[in-house]
Amino acid sequence: MIDWVNTDQFLVIGHRGVPSLKPENTLASFELALELGAAGIELDVHRVDDELVVIHDDHVDRTTNGKGPVSQFTLQDLGELDAGEGEKIPLLAEVLSVVQDQHLVNVELKGNQTGELLAEFLKDNRNYQNQILVSSFKYDELHKFVALCPDVKTAVLSKKLDQRSIRAAKDCDAYSMNLSDRGVKPVDIATLREMNVRVMVYTINNLSRASELRNLNVFGLFTDAIQDLSRIQSL
Ligand code: G3P
Ligand code: MG
Repeated sequence: MIDWVNTDQFLVIGHRGVPSLKPENTLASFELALELGAAGIELDVHRVDDELVVIHDDHVDRTTNGKGPVSQFTLQDLGELDAGEGEKIPLLAEVLSVVQDQHLVNVELKGNQTGELLAEFLKDNRNYQNQILVSSFKYDELHKFVALCPDVKTAVLSKKLDQRSIRAAKDCDAYSMNLSDRGVKPVDIATLREMNVRVMVYTINNLSRASELRNLNVFGLFTDAIQDLSRIQSL
């Protein structure tokens, strides 16, 4: 098993678990991603009744049998939805309880007012602080998180490297910049290395592209197909 904080190994992360085999952002998906050799998992969180719930969209329609905005549900009503194959929408705490501590858990702050709530959660659950990488496209949420939890690693998410994302990476003292494969260029990787910011790339489902990125000194990638991409460690 890869101890992600102390490894030089290229990190292959299960994006929302292993959504090509199991419903995204569910416990079954996360557990399977790790069984199949993921160094860690990525998940998306929204805030409901002062809890962090793991779901990507701001509506439940695409991934569950329910309808409507996540923000209109109580925690109890969300818990009754089927997130696919009988799986439930998990709480962040439930996911963390099934992941061994060497594995990376990338918590993406997707919903409003999630930064402060995650910081509160990690103050009460300090054992997870080294395991988590907190990322967001919402830089205001990331800033709120960093102000409360400056020692936890953060990642700035961006479709491409630009002045705004560079500013956010500096302001947050970010551990990594997580860029879209559609926007990433070799020169960006070099620029970020000079700033001592690692680069991770989403979403890669092709082994030869994964290999190219590894050769460009990318730190890690996110994939929907860990069953194919975990093979890169033996190439
Ligand atoms: O963190 C990488 C990736 O998850 C960002 O995009 O839309 O899949 O959450 P999205
Ligand atoms: Mg995400």
